[in-house]
Amino acid sequence: MNMQNITSVRDIDVSGKRVLVRVDFNVPLKDGKIENDVRIKAALPTLKLLIERGASSIVVLTHLGRPKTPDDQATRVAPVAQRLRELLNAPQIAVHENLRFDPREETNDPVFAQELASLGDVYVNDAFSNSHRNHASMVGLPALLPSAAGLGLLAEVAHLEPALTPPPGSVALIGGAKFETKVPLIKKLLALYSEVLLGGALANDVIKARGLPFGASLVSQTPVPADIAADEHLVVPTDAIFAENSSNAERSGLVVDIRANEGIIDIGPATAKLWVEKISQAPFVLWNGPMGIYEQGYRDGTDVLAAALAASAVPAVVGGGDTAAAVEKYTFDPSKVFVSTGGGAMLEFLVTGTLPGIEALRH
Ligand code: ADP
Ligand code: 3PG
Ligand code: MG
Repeated sequence: MNMQNITSVRDIDVSGKRVLVRVDFNVPLKDGKIENDVRIKAALPTLKLLIERGASSIVVLTHLGRPKTPDDQATRVAPVAQRLRELLNAPQIAVHENLRFDPREETNDPVFAQELASLGDVYVNDAFSNSHRNHASMVGLPALLPSAAGLGLLAEVAHLEPALTPPPGSVALIGGAKFETKVPLIKKLLALYSEVLLGGALANDVIKARGLPFGASLVSQTPVPADIAADEHLVVPTDAIFAENSSNAERSGLVVDIRANEGIIDIGPATAKLWVEKISQAPFVLWNGPMGIYEQGYRDGTDVLAAALAASAVPAVVGGGDTAAAVEKYTFDPSKVFVSTGGGAMLEFLVTGTLPGIEALRH
């Protein structure tokens, strides 16, 4: 993507100014407790820079969840504001209440954007993972103030962009669910990568489309486009973990031997071993989507691949909301493996090469 005409937060004068920083503190919450604070930590470099550079005040703007009423107690920003204070205690920082309490945020209402603009002199977008949303704080607001990209957003672009020009021999690993939502991505990756290794429920759709037995596996309603199914660079697992319907009985076996009452819940050990070899030899790996129903403990395939990436020196970009959560227990060398904070934003960036919230920073 052309980052010309997009100013970095490093290159703006914030001394004595009121800075509005749009972050994405939309973190998983359970009973009011933060389950994962990666997105809060990701904003710290930008906030610290603004403090060092003498910003007079910093108003942190975020949404949290998808509140159903304008003042949903469960999605107030108090827990994330508290966590931010624990990580960075600075008197100049104030966290604005959940932007989505005002329905005008999601409709990109110009008056709402004006109201937000009146709170600051300068705008910084450090919310890469929400930059696919055409909302007031993402798109309307930067048009009204001098605006810049935050360090987190710049790092995401710097790492995701090379994934669109991978060196020959690169491998994409795609899993997860809802085939129809990932069709544009898979098409694009098949054109760019030497091989696309398809796991998760997505593989079930291609197994079905190729006329192989799929038992009672989860498949999507929309058929797989014929050109995708026929593409020989699209690789599906040869063995899998099967679970019997309405029982916990599980076994591994060849996909071709699946029984009618069994569903595929993870890639099998032979496939995982082969895919580890493929990714370990690749010059670059892009990974989105868990290989199995990891939330239910069917995560051996995902674990084997994540452990291989953590142990290897292969440069990789890993992302997706569920994928980032699934690989969280692994420590990657940050100079080799970049874990994106983006879910939908990462997928959309990979398909279109930019995002509305990034384009809104051009001037
Ligand atoms: P991400 O958020 O990383 O982009 P997705 O949302 O596409 O990933 O996919 C994650 C979901 O895919 C998880 O809920 C997981 O349980 C599901 N999934 C993975 N493999 C299977 C499978 N074989 N059958 C059913 N669901 C699966
Ligand atoms: C995300 O978690 O992907 C972003 O914060 C966007 O949230 P949304 O899907 O509710 O718009
Ligand atoms: Mg997901």
